[in-house]
Formats: sequence, C-alpha cells, structure tokens
Amino acid sequence: MTRKVIIDCDPGIDDAVALCMALFDPRLEVVAITAVGGNVSPDQATRNVQAILDQLDPPRRPRIGCASEPANSLPVDAKHIFGNDGLGNNDFPFVEHHQRHAAEKVIYDEVHAAPNQVTIVACGPLTNIARALLRDPELAAIIGQLVIMGGTVSAPGNVTPAAEFNIYSDPESARIVFRSAMTKTLVPLDVTTQVAQTYDFLDQIPDETSRAGRFLAKTLPYLYRTHRQHLGEEGIHLHDAVALVAATDRDLFELRQMACDVEVAGELTRGATVFDRRRLPQWRPNTEVAISADSTAVTDCILRGLAEAARAT
Ligand code: BDR
Ligand code: CA
Repeated sequence: MTRKVIIDCDPGIDDAVALCMALFDPRLEVVAITAVGGNVSPDQATRNVQAILDQLDPPRRPRIGCASEPANSLPVDAKHIFGNDGLGNNDFPFVEHHQRHAAEKVIYDEVHAAPNQVTIVACGPLTNIARALLRDPELAAIIGQLVIMGGTVSAPGNVTPAAEFNIYSDPESARIVFRSAMTKTLVPLDVTTQVAQTYDFLDQIPDETSRAGRFLAKTLPYLYRTHRQHLGEEGIHLHDAVALVAATDRDLFELRQMACDVEVAGELTRGATVFDRRRLPQWRPNTEVAISADSTAVTDCILRGLAEAARAT
C-alpha cells in the first residue's frame, strides 16, 4: 500500500532533489506539493514547484498549494547558494495555474480527506503548517506524521551561530508547530550534515537521457560551485533529501524522543531550537529527533530514488 505524502517546500535545489525522489517513489503517493517562502520569495517558490513538475512531468500530478507572504517578512534568503531563481539560475519556464489554492488550504483539505494517513515532509520554514494549525487546531490530531528538516541539537547553526535556516526564517511558526500535539520527527542539521555528497556523487546520478537526469545536470553542479565558493566545502549537503529518506526509510536513523521548543526572542539566538537535556528534564518530550544516520545507506537511498525517477522519465 502506498503512503500519502504532502511535500511542503521552498525550492531550493535540495528541495527539488527531494521532490524528484518522492514523485517517483512507488511507496509514496504525493497528493500535494505546497510551496513556502524561504530560500526564495513565496511567489518564486510557487513558480519553482510548477517548473519542477513541468520539467519532470510525473504521470500523476499532485495538487499545488501556493505560498503566501509570512506574517513577518523573511529575514534571509539563500540565493547565494541556490541562485537568484532558487534553481541554479536556469529560469525554467512554468505555466501559471488559473486556480490558485493557498498552501494551508490544500494541507487542510488533504489531511481531512484522509485522516491519520497523510505524512507531511516539511523541507522549508514552518509557515504553512502553522497556518493550517491556526485554521484548524484539530488538524494536529489527524496529521499522520510530520517530518521536519530543520533546527540543530548540538551542531552550530547555518544562518546564525545558533540557528538553522528553516527555523530562523519563521521562528514563531516553528514554535506553534513544536508546541502542537502533532506526531513530529525532526531531522536536524547535526544529521543532514553527516550525510555529505562529495564530487563522486555527481558521477553516480542518472545521465541526461531522461528528464530527471537533465534536470539534475542543470541544477546540481551549480550547488557544488556555490558550496565551494561561499562555504569552502568540497561537496554538498542535500538536507531535504535526507529528511525525505527519514520519512521513507526510518530504520537508517537513530531516533530519540526529546522535548523541543524554539527561541523567538533572543538577540543572538532567535530561531534556535532548544532541547531540555537536563538530567531531570522538566519539559515533556514532544518530538522524535534523528540523532545519527547510516550516511552511506542514506546516500544510496538518494541515488536509488533518483535512478527510479530517471527510469520513469
Ligand atoms: C535548509 O535550508 C534551506 O536552505 C535548505 O533548502 C534546507 O531546507 C537547510 O538548513
Ligand atoms: Ca528547503
């Protein structure tokens, strides 16, 4: 039986890789892709979701949820890493849909259509998930599972010394989500950065005879270049693809129940994820947190997912 999935994302090349894997994974039925501002503006994120679908042309088109402006304007973007358009400056064409539905409405609809059966993989700021919860607090009890790429436990942040990009981009929304009763799995930077894709990864992705292969060839090399130029790294981290693997192959991760909240006020620490790790914790565990991963097996999973996408396209 396939599992219903919503991918909430801010493409972003690592988001795009996660989409590429999810759309052709025979274990999953991607019922919707919802866009959120983060790496790029909300409008650009929506355009990118449409463009990625047009590039890959999967046999079954999921519903698209459009991103809207967050309550507080986005404090950062990641154009220096992903390009001005978020997808390696390819300016992929896209067809504007006439019927535009807000991301949180699409989440609400799909979760209500299949209570307790929908997994949401959140690859961007948690704006849409928080809005869906504010629209209907009952949703927390009927979302099957929420897998979040974001935060850090012990590792440094990647946008400030304390904060990871997705949480930093909208800490108020993240706090609403962490404080909700939803079943949550967090895949923090500590784990996604354990899984590095060095240059040999590029030799193992599908060749350009398929749509998926052509899309990857146009986007991934850009990410290697910017990682070298801006981060001084000889390889990349496909954070969102790792989070997708945590949703499909959880056995590859060591998971621990922890109590997590988000700092929304700190001058130096806004957007940091805070865990109660005292000897006698006083907060109740509310999140299953990935502590470590079998990084070789996770990379193999990513490569298998991309190979499957190439076979299908
Ligand atoms: C996260 O931030 C974004 O830039 C990436 O797409 C990923 O979701 C990593 O911190
Ligand atoms: Ca992302």
